[in-house]
Amino acid sequence: MTARLGKLVKWSAALVVTLLVVAQFIPVDRSNPPVQSDVQAPAEVKAILVKACFDCHSHETRWPWYSRVAPLSWWINGHVVEGRKDLNFSRWPTFDFVTQDLLLREIDKQIENGKMPPRSYAVGHPEARLKDSERQALLDWVRTGQSDDSDLMY
Ligand code: HEC
Repeated sequence: MTARLGKLVKWSAALVVTLLVVAQFIPVDRSNPPVQSDVQAPAEVKAILVKACFDCHSHETRWPWYSRVAPLSWWINGHVVEGRKDLNFSRWPTFDFVTQDLLLREIDKQIENGKMPPRSYAVGHPEARLKDSERQALLDWVRTGQSDDSDLMY
């Protein structure tokens, strides 16, 4: 390595470290707002929702230590913000009938397709990987709650 290249590498590394340090000071909202009204579900179903979905779809997020380290914190926070926006079990009973029905159908679809919980989450949370029996319990729950198509006029 020429001396000039060595210098470049050294300065680049210093720059990256500086940016990482500065990044830690950008505030990230890791708040858990009060639970307005929790989702009602049989204990077995609730336990599955809590361990596999609640970190992103409720106000009871368990923020891990690495959610305090930028840039990971931005990525995790984005999941929680987006997840709560789409589906929030901590506000569930406040949704009207049509909204609940739509959400049950969405959950059905996501579980059926194996899209939730996201794969990147399951890597760090092996307990959240749904067993067949757990997938089935969730599907049974959402399907019991759904209306017949014929009942609804959107
Ligand atoms: C790591 C965070 C995370 C976990 C854990 C998670 N989700 Fe999600 N979920 C998201 C994000 C982010 C979105 C919105 C963006 C998207 O659709 O990918 C979402 C969207 C959804 C949607 C709405 C899809 C739509 O298109 O409207 C449903 C339904 C859903 N998730 C169900 C679940 C269920 C059920 C579980 C548990 C078995 C779960 N999620 C676990 C992050 C998560």
